[in-house]
Amino acid sequence: MIRLNINGKFHQVDVEPNTPLLWVIREQVGLTGTKYGCGITQCGACTVHLNGTAVRSCGIPVSAAVGQRITTIEGLARGKTLHKVQKAWLDHEVPQCGYCQSGMMMAVAALLKDKPKPTDADIDATITNICRCGTFQQVREAIHAAARAKA
Ligand code: FES
Ligand code: FES
Repeated sequence: MIRLNINGKFHQVDVEPNTPLLWVIREQVGLTGTKYGCGITQCGACTVHLNGTAVRSCGIPVSAAVGQRITTIEGLARGKTLHKVQKAWLDHEVPQCGYCQSGMMMAVAALLKDKPKPTDADIDATITNICRCGTFQQVREAIHAAARAKA
């Protein structure tokens, strides 16, 4: 049995230690907001936080997440209060199909924690998530709006 702390709750899962964290989050724990895109750490659809750092969960064995704080898109809001990234996403109507957006928002939330006022160059260097709908311009605008927001 493997014990994981996901969004502040403990879960016991019976999986092989090298199972990708993405599949444990989705299949064993049932949190399906984290998406499978490529499975080879290229697209960012599966981005979650490990101790506040953005990671691509398709490339992390579940054993590497033991003893760490895992946060998924379902844990980004504080109760009913949306994270400022989620608010900016709504205000700027960023998503189209929405498939990439959980991972996108998790990557952006981690960026804003490290760099509260990111430049366009910071965004280009850090937010390498792929959006097949081409929402990149709205993503950039929403990141700057979230950076201006208080909380
Ligand atoms: S599914 Fe993990 S990076 Fe694409
Ligand atoms: S909103 Fe459709 S893939 Fe990004």
